[in-house]
Amino acid sequence: MGYTEAAARPGNFRERLVYLDHAATTSLRPEVLAVMTEELGHLGNPSSLHNAGRRARRVVEESREVIAEVYGARPSEVVFTSGGTEADNLAVKGLYWARQAQDPRRRRVLATAVEHHAVLDSVHWLADHEGAEPVWLPVDEQGRLWPDTLRAAIASDPAAVALISVMWANNEVGTIQPIAELAALAREHAIPFHTDAVQAAGQLPVDFAACGADALTVTAHKIGGPVGAGALLLGRGTQPVPVLHGGGQEADIRSGTLDAPAIRAFATAAQLVGKERDDQAARLAALRDELIARVRAAVPDVILNGAPPGPGRLPGNAHFSFPGCEGDALLMLLDAKGIACSTGSACTAGVAQPSHVLIAMGADEGRARGSLRFSFGSTSTLADVEAVGAEIGDVVERARRAGRAMAGGGRGAASRGTPEAGRVRQRARAGSAGHVRQRARSREAGGLDIRRGR
Ligand SMILES: Cc1ncc(COP(=O)(O)O)c(C=O)c1O
Repeated sequence: MGYTEAAARPGNFRERLVYLDHAATTSLRPEVLAVMTEELGHLGNPSSLHNAGRRARRVVEESREVIAEVYGARPSEVVFTSGGTEADNLAVKGLYWARQAQDPRRRRVLATAVEHHAVLDSVHWLADHEGAEPVWLPVDEQGRLWPDTLRAAIASDPAAVALISVMWANNEVGTIQPIAELAALAREHAIPFHTDAVQAAGQLPVDFAACGADALTVTAHKIGGPVGAGALLLGRGTQPVPVLHGGGQEADIRSGTLDAPAIRAFATAAQLVGKERDDQAARLAALRDELIARVRAAVPDVILNGAPPGPGRLPGNAHFSFPGCEGDALLMLLDAKGIACSTGSACTAGVAQPSHVLIAMGADEGRARGSLRFSFGSTSTLADVEAVGAEIGDVVERARRAGRAMAGGGRGAASRGTPEAGRVRQRARAGSAGHVRQRARSREAGGLDIRRGR
């Protein structure tokens, strides 16, 4: 870990990047890099019948067995995808279409209000284009869905429920849901239950068979594997309508040439998770707790969002609100000191909207906007925690001064403002504008839509 372009530049940067954004993407494990590099040197499409193709197929099937074993599934239940977003889309849209085809009354899609956008926006898309009726399940102030809430939502019209989707652990605040209990409620009515276990799969004992879900999403780059590989675990008899059509790979559920090097790398990462998860979770929880203690010592009025440290929270997650600050300003000030963290989820950072997760948990806009997520992974050390502890007090003070200057002076005065306000605003704007420009460019290039802020 550690050495980056930033370290090579003169100025404020630390010699080592303090990377505390593992929930966005975590370090590729060296073992994973080694097998992926080796595999990239081999030729052969796993669907080809010749020797090279059969060899690649063997790699894929052996990897499938490893992933199935680590996550408590049968090999035949593993459907490879390009990652978590695709697996979520396949589960939500595919299961909706399949259930609709069986009974057109099934229009209700039950999902929590704190899902990742891959689920959230898939449900919105179904509502906009396919006549689905979303039911957003409320969570409590810690981000938990209570089983009684789900029970009541099902009971209001069970025959009209197409599917239920509840994430295993939240990507922003790290709150863990009681998945087995929730899946059991769905089972009582034979309603398919999907869980997005992207954030849980590297840190918690995720067992597909034991949890009782019908579909489960995992992705490689959150567990030490490469970006661009993932899987949807699908229980026997759970048959989503495909989203991608083509060569009929993955039992016709997900067409597209299988990426043997990425899949082998994914399996290697999963194997390491299987071996090290419990020790790793204890180590990350200790680092996380130390970080919470140091941030509280430096900023006494800080608010820890999500469940308290313990079994209800991901070991590697700490999520705070800093009253009187803008999250973007905090992020940029820390970044200037070589500390990488995140405001909310990486996928929505840069869009000037408060986090939908914190709003669903009852936070007001100010608290939601003044939040930062620090997330730990395999390469995290106590030195990372010490670095944040040493800087956070000063950074928060600067962000507050800038916030006060902006609030006190109104827009016109703020643009003149104090030098501090100007510097902080400039950094925050540069960061946000970069993201927005990037999205605008990709829209021009590929006709993609810029995310509607939610
Ligand atoms: C909970 C959750 N689901 C889905 C995704 C999307 O996964 P991927 O980046 O593999 O498309 C993410 C990524 O941030 C996530 O945190």
